[in-house]
Amino acid sequence: MQNNSQHSDGLVVILATGGTIAGSGDDVGYTAGQVGVADLVAAVPALAGRALEAEQVAQVDSKDMSHAIWRTLAERLVHHLARPEVAGIVVTHGTDTLEETAYFLHRVLGPAKPVVLTAAMRPVTSLQSDGPQNLLDAVTIAAHLDVRGVLAVLQGRVHGPVDVRKALPFALDAFSSGEAGPVALIQEGQLRALRPWPAGTPLGMSAIGTDPAAWPRVDIVVSHAGADGVVVDALVAAGARGLVVEGTGNGTVHASLLAALARAQATGVRVLRATRCAGAAVVGAPAGALPSAGELSPAKARIELLLEILTSAA
Ligand code: SIN
Repeated sequence: MQNNSQHSDGLVVILATGGTIAGSGDDVGYTAGQVGVADLVAAVPALAGRALEAEQVAQVDSKDMSHAIWRTLAERLVHHLARPEVAGIVVTHGTDTLEETAYFLHRVLGPAKPVVLTAAMRPVTSLQSDGPQNLLDAVTIAAHLDVRGVLAVLQGRVHGPVDVRKALPFALDAFSSGEAGPVALIQEGQLRALRPWPAGTPLGMSAIGTDPAAWPRVDIVVSHAGADGVVVDALVAAGARGLVVEGTGNGTVHASLLAALARAQATGVRVLRATRCAGAAVVGAPAGALPSAGELSPAKARIELLLEILTSAA
């Protein structure tokens, strides 16, 4: 596939949401979401002179990412993507839930321009700070003429929104696309595409409405040795409209938990079956099995189910 560095002179908008890339402190005892987006840009000398705009959409540790921030971020993206002078958009984010935000934006917006999420495993105050290079790479990709869709760039690897996941909790090279592998590499500012850019049929903003507080409750339950149905029954009683089960192996589920999920299904709760095995799809759907989440991790299957319930209610 293409191996080039076709930068446009178009404007890149940076939407900041917080995370370690905006963190301050030492390598473990830091606080995420402290540094404003203007200072993040100023910390990358190579960005001086580039056509950039920056906007602080949120300032959170991404473990605390909310549906309300997702809704606001999607709305700001729609606004900037519609501007003809904008070549692409960078979203700075925490690493912990970056993969969820990437999948949500992919399914809702499926943009024709690049929307590039990036993050850092070390705060800007660390000797190992990885944020500045990741931000530079993200801006380079967002300005690239050939790129489209929601992507995530970290450590020189460009990941697609379906496969990307944080695979390691502390290592600098923490992200993986599992068996699928990255969609591209960026090395010394040169982009090398390996697979097609993410495509699909976006649901559009109308699918998610204007009030995230009205989104249905969808939870994740886990199958494990000794599992039972107590959590499922409690979640159904709390109003869950969808449940993702993080199964063992190829999406297998403990018999006691399975019985509770079947009870939930019988009351109209939708269920999807994923696997706790990292970076691989659930293969096949034996007769009588719960519906499969396929290649989606449990966290992404939760988003898929949430959107499915929202769109089927519309
Ligand atoms: C976060 O996800 O906001 C904190 C962790 C990180 O960005 O690495």
